[in-house]
Formats: sequence, C-alpha cells, structure tokens
Amino acid sequence: MTSLWIRVGITLGIVVALSASTWLAAGSRAALLSLVACLATWVGFQLWHLHKMTRWLEDFKLDKTPTGLGTWDLLYSSVHRLARSYERQQQQLSAALTSFRGATEAMPDGVVALDIHNQINYASQRAAEHLSLRLPTDQGRNILNLLRHPAFADYVERRAWDVPVTLHGVPTADRVLQAQLVPYGEQDRLLLTRDVTSIERLETTRRDFVANVSHELKTPLTVLAGFLETLQELPLSAAQIADILSTMSGQTRRMQRLIDDLLTLSRLESAQEPLHEAHIEMSTLLHQLASEAQLISRGSHTIETSLASSADLRGDVIELTSAFGNLVTNAIRYTPAGGCVTLRWAAGPNGEGIFCVADTGPGIEAHHLSRLAERFYRADKGRSRDTGGTGLGLAIVKHIGARHGAQLEIQSELRKGSTFSLIFPAARCQEGQTKTRSMPPLLA
Ligand SMILES: Nc1ncnc2c1ncn2[C@@H]1O[C@H](COP(=O)(O)OP(=O)(O)OP(=O)(O)O)[C@@H](O)[C@H]1O
Ligand SMILES: [Mg+2]
Repeated sequence: MTSLWIRVGITLGIVVALSASTWLAAGSRAALLSLVACLATWVGFQLWHLHKMTRWLEDFKLDKTPTGLGTWDLLYSSVHRLARSYERQQQQLSAALTSFRGATEAMPDGVVALDIHNQINYASQRAAEHLSLRLPTDQGRNILNLLRHPAFADYVERRAWDVPVTLHGVPTADRVLQAQLVPYGEQDRLLLTRDVTSIERLETTRRDFVANVSHELKTPLTVLAGFLETLQELPLSAAQIADILSTMSGQTRRMQRLIDDLLTLSRLESAQEPLHEAHIEMSTLLHQLASEAQLISRGSHTIETSLASSADLRGDVIELTSAFGNLVTNAIRYTPAGGCVTLRWAAGPNGEGIFCVADTGPGIEAHHLSRLAERFYRADKGRSRDTGGTGLGLAIVKHIGARHGAQLEIQSELRKGSTFSLIFPAARCQEGQTKTRSMPPLLA
C-alpha cells in the first residue's frame, strides 16, 4: 500500500513539476493546458488498464496475467499472487478430501456423513452396498427415507448412540447389518455400518450347538437317573439287575462316544495340530477296510472292493482311516441286511484321488443332502439314534477331508442307495512303491 501511495505521489509530483516549469517558461495559460493534457493522459491510461483488468477477471486465467506500468503492474501481480495461493489451497483441500475418501473407501465398514437433518453429505461405496444407496443420486437425501427400518428410526430418535443397533434383513432378507451413529463437528454425525451376517450365523450355530449337545446328553442321563431310582427303590431279582446294568452301561457308552466325537471335532476345528503326513498304500487300506466292514456287518451284507487307480495317497493315516471307516460304518449301519456295500478307489479326470463308499440302502431324500455333514444333523433321526449314532460322524469326515484339501460329495437316490465320496486333489496322489505304515484298526 505504501508503495502504491509513493508511486501515485511521484506521478502527481512529475505532473505538478511539469506544469510549474511550463508556467515559468510560457506563462500560466500554457501551464494550465499542459496540466489538463497530463491529467487527461493519466485518466485515459487508468481507464484503459481498468478495462484490461475487467476483461482479465471476467475470463480469469492464471497464465494470462496482463502486464502494466506503475500501480497497475503492482495490482496485476497482487491479484495473480492471491489467485495462485487460492489455487494452491484448493489443491491441498481436494488432496485432503481425496485422501479422506480413499481412507473411508478402504475401511471394511461403511461410512456415511450426515448433517443435523440426517441428510447425506457423503457415503462410501461400502455404505452404499450396505444400505442399497444409489450414488450420487441419493446424496442430499434423508437417510431415514432411504433406510426404512423401525429399529433404525427408533435408534436415531432415542439418541443412545454409544452402542450400535442391529438391523435384521438389511439390505436383503438374509443379511444382518450393524449401524452406529457417532456425532462429530458442530452438529454433524457419522453413520458407521458393518455387515455382521457371518458373526450372527456363528452365534446361531453356537446356540444350536449347545442346545444339541444338551439334548443329546439329556436322553441317556434321564435313562440312567430312572434306572438308578429303580435300583434304589424296588426289590429286584439278580437277572433284572443285570438287565438294568447292561442298559445303563449302553447309555454310558453312548455318552462316552458323544464326548469322544465332540473332542475329535473340536481338535479338528481348531486345526492347531499339524497333519502327520505319510504315504498310504491304498490297496492295503481298501483291503483292511473291507475286512473290518465284514466284522461290523457280521455277514449280513455283501462287501465288495474296487481298486481302479494305482495311485496311493499322501496324508494323515490315523485321520484318513477314521474318515473312511466312518463312511463304511454308515453304509453298513443304514443298509438293511442282504444289501451290498462297495468300497472304491479311483482316479478323477484331472488326476484326483476318489475314495467312495456306495451302498444299496434306503437312500436319502434330496433336501437332506446339503445339510447331512452338519453337526447333529440326521436324515432319519429315529434310526440313527437306535443304531447308537451321535450325528457327528459326517461332520468329522468333512473336517478331516478339508484338512487334506478333499471335498465330500454325497449322491443318493431313494430306495436305490447312496454314494459318499471323498475327492482328494491330484497333488495328494502319487504312484506308490514305498511300503506304508501299518493302518490303525477301523474299529479302534
Ligand atoms: N449310507 C447312508 N445311508 C443312508 N443314510 C445315511 C448314510 N450315511 C449317513 N446317513 C444319514 O446321515 C446322518 C448323519 O450321519 P453321521 O455319520 O454324521 O451321523 P450318525 O451316523 O447318525 O452318527 P455317528 O456320529 O455315530 O456316525 C445319519 O443320521 C443318517 O440319517
Ligand atoms: Mg455315522
């Protein structure tokens, strides 16, 4: 500013000095004329620059800054500097905004910035997926109109936002969403969303599991309690007592089997134990499984084997023998006397190893098949319990299979029979020459 006044002062000083010297040299009239001419030139010069400045500001471009003389040069460069610093601030702001958006987009949770009226200022892509928002169309709209859920409306209303609210059926009927509001700034709020469908499913599985275990233990415990009461209260003959004790020990064995299977499952699920990899000679294993199947069947079934692949298997011999044994035991248990059970080892089209047990039993209805390997799931509840089944066998088979990268496949046709197959990846199958470790017994 000081520099501006100095420049104006100097210009006026020159004009006055020029007029004064004209006065001295040519008289007052000439001095007046020269003063008017100087002032007219000065005003013209100012108007021309004013016009230049207006045109520049109307179509502002930083790289088209005009040049001028004196104060105008000062003015042009001041505006140029101001515009440059404004542009730099804009760039910094937009970089900060991009980085904030990048951070919210990278978050596993959805983020929606709302104003005091619950209108959407910004929503991340994840939040859009969680809440079925259409971006950018829904920007500026009220979240309560877009997320129409009574629990959410109630949550927003109550303002008890230190815990999240769980919304079942959002965005689709089979999903569960958790939403939490976090106030920030003056009156704004962040809405954080998280898909908790799998956590909810785990929680349901846990609850079902506890209920199932309790239910499975309740029956034998009720039987034991009833017999104990009978033993205490009734005078019984030695034969009756022996009968009761035999039933009681059957129930105790059932509970023992249940506990053993539960412990096996829990060990397999925690997957902390490493696999004790070994070379398993499949012809020997097939033979051993068949002779143990004969023992369980006690001659009521025809047991056949089919060795269609010369490859052997690499895996944990104890776990795999138990899984294969489970499938064989099921086939015999659920196939009525006179039926046929076939144990087969074959190669798949891409070198996979396929172990399957086929039976000519009653078959399983199609709607059971996808759930058969769930813990405690039984297709024929009565029959399974009558035969002493815990309902955990196939769950164990599936887990052992998974530890070896194998898939459990079940095919079944009512009144024709079932085939249970474990399909091992080609990497686990190798042409065998080495002698295998001796197989643990199937009935152990
Ligand atoms: N070969 C089969 N034929 C017909 N149904 C079968 C066969 N194998 C299994 N199932 C059905 O699948 C259900 C689950 O089998 P799973 O082996 O898991 O349990 P289980 O045999 O009842 O008990 P366990 O834990 O003693 O094996 C059985 O209850 C039965 O209904
Ligand atoms: Mg079974």
